Amino acid sequence: MLDFKYFAPTKVLFGRNTEDKVAELIKEFGGSKVLIHYGGGSVIRSGLMDKVTGLLDEARIKYVKLGGAVPNPRLQLVYEGIELCKKENVDFLLAVGGGSAIDSAKAIGYGYANSGDVWDFYAGKRKAEKSIPLGVILTLAATGSEMSDSSVITNEDGLIKKGYSSDLGRAKFAIMNPELTMTLPDYQTACGCTDIMMHTMERYFTKVETMELTDTMAEALLRTVKKNAIILRDDPKNYDARAEVMWAGSLSHNGLTGCGTDGGDWMSHKLEHEIGGLFDVTHGAGLAAIWGSWARYVYKDCLHRFKRYALNVMEVENKGTDEEIALAGIEAMEDFYRSINMPTNLRELGITPTEEDLVLMAHKCALGVGGGKGSAKFLKEEDMLAIYRASM
Ligand code: NZQ
Ligand code: ZN
Repeated sequence: MLDFKYFAPTKVLFGRNTEDKVAELIKEFGGSKVLIHYGGGSVIRSGLMDKVTGLLDEARIKYVKLGGAVPNPRLQLVYEGIELCKKENVDFLLAVGGGSAIDSAKAIGYGYANSGDVWDFYAGKRKAEKSIPLGVILTLAATGSEMSDSSVITNEDGLIKKGYSSDLGRAKFAIMNPELTMTLPDYQTACGCTDIMMHTMERYFTKVETMELTDTMAEALLRTVKKNAIILRDDPKNYDARAEVMWAGSLSHNGLTGCGTDGGDWMSHKLEHEIGGLFDVTHGAGLAAIWGSWARYVYKDCLHRFKRYALNVMEVENKGTDEEIALAGIEAMEDFYRSINMPTNLRELGITPTEEDLVLMAHKCALGVGGGKGSAKFLKEEDMLAIYRASM
């Protein structure tokens, strides 16, 4: 195993009605003037926003609201949020929603607390030195942003989707009530399950040393999400299944399933971010659409991990050569995607990129990772292009 740092400072309140504690938590972390940041209105329609503002009013905590964080959240709204924070002297951010609202709030925090253009952090030009405290009420189990150090923003100028990671952005608290995810469309639930699994898979497919404890936890997490994704497909109001998936979402991306390894591969995510930037697809579906092509391209270079995955996660029969078992595991994973109505190629994802688009995405992807990246297999621009082509 390799040495590691594990930092997961977010206080988690998990379970029914935990949102009732939001005002108490904001006070605990020193908030007196809050920016409530949310998405396109699901939290208004569900009544959650009224509940939250009612609790803040009762506790005499001042707030301003900013909605409009779209899936693949945009830089322009981040700028708007920063200006609003300045005008209103905000000292606390409360994101209410899914990964997009949370990521947008993280970016607002960086831009508000530091001078200069917030995009510099996402463009890799410099690092944020501070932020302001962030709390989260999660309504979609998917990205793990409620406990992760990262946020992903799309710059409309050039449709560039970029992530920025910093411990400064980690939420002070995350309120996770599985019931709040019951209003999700089935498609978003399935996309969420896909994303959650992928955050652990990215860490799992590595060629360097690993840790038995980490591997075993990762496999348990993956089997749990796989099983409960099917339960939710048939019974979306199943509380226990919602809860299993929600907690898995946080543990999948708070570093736990990467302890003792090199941090993982992450090329499926990098390839998807280019698709999301250019075609504005839902992140989880984009991952499902690209994963099979990525896996078939790299598995020979990381055969022992693909075999282990096939046996311990996809539970395929231990029969045949290592390569046959690894391939059976990839096929079983694609069958699983189909079973929860996820795409397994770009056509099924609903997009038809031209050859020029594929070349552009591969170029931007390679540029974004400094030329090449990957732990299961190190990929260069020509490899990325080959994977995009195979995913058509
Ligand atoms: O915008 P509203 O109206 O709230 O509707 C949202 C949106 O349309 C809806 N929704 C959320 N909760 C709901 C609900 N609808 C009904 N009931 C509810 N309870 O679902 C749609 C998707 O929401 P969004 O927040 O965009 O989804 P998600 O949580 O999947 O976030 C996706 C973004 O996060 C980034 C992705 O790239 C993408 O931009 N990621 C962030 C990561 C991180 N910060 O650590 C890691 C991930 O790998 C990912 O890249
Ligand atoms: Zn993801």
